[in-house]
Amino acid sequence: MDDRPIGVFDSGVGGLTVLKELIEKLPGEDVVYFGDTARIPYGSRSKETVIKYFLQSVRFLLTKDIKAIVVACNTASALAMEEAQKVFEIPILGVIEPGAEAAIAVTRNSKIGVIGTEGTINSQSYQRRMRRMLPSAEIIGISCPLFVPIVEEGWENSDVAFMTAKQYLLELKEHNIDSLVLGCTHYPTLRYTIDKVLEGKVNLINPAYETAKAAKIMLKESNLTSSRIDGGKCEFYVSDDPEKFKRIGGNILKKEIASIRKVNIENM
Ligand code: DGL
Repeated sequence: MDDRPIGVFDSGVGGLTVLKELIEKLPGEDVVYFGDTARIPYGSRSKETVIKYFLQSVRFLLTKDIKAIVVACNTASALAMEEAQKVFEIPILGVIEPGAEAAIAVTRNSKIGVIGTEGTINSQSYQRRMRRMLPSAEIIGISCPLFVPIVEEGWENSDVAFMTAKQYLLELKEHNIDSLVLGCTHYPTLRYTIDKVLEGKVNLINPAYETAKAAKIMLKESNLTSSRIDGGKCEFYVSDDPEKFKRIGGNILKKEIASIRKVNIENM
């Protein structure tokens, strides 16, 4: 048993989709959440920059006496996790592996789509993982950069969201995919719109949900589970204006975030 908190990292507010699932699966765990809001988006940045930002963020989380890290950010999981695992000894779990495994488990026709930021899609991280598990799989990756701002505006169920999704997902429909990985923190919020565009015919894989399940297993296997059954608390840190995080985050988490502190991440 270990009552220290879990560190959750994201480039901003979208990682709250992962936090939400973690709270549901692991209600006794304390969490320290860090959102690198001053430097979002990670999705359009180079690998070197994402690695630099992510290592600084991990160094900050380590000052909070955490027992493990969950990387909610798909882009950081895809581009920087391997490097971090070489540098730090703490267990680090990302979203790619759990999301990829779930897609392979549900596909029937081996035609799988994956959507995410440019960084995530171009890295081929999801695609490689899935092909390793199912070499015959046909995997189509599409980056959908407009989805993040649409969610941050709170427009996830609007006509704008529907038209944008229709345009992005056209190619996936043509390929007759039967499963789609929502490979970005913000996309689970768009799942009703995406489902409507795909006419309810495609299994939507939510890596946030899958990662929370994997985190529970990881803590158990490493004897790191908290002794509490519920009542876990969350602390929030960001690298830019806490007010914006509070507003958008409240919408994603569906409850008010009481206290958010600002961190000078460049010094880490
Ligand atoms: N958190 C990022 C991800 O899941 C999306 C936002 C960004 O580009 O930083 O890839």
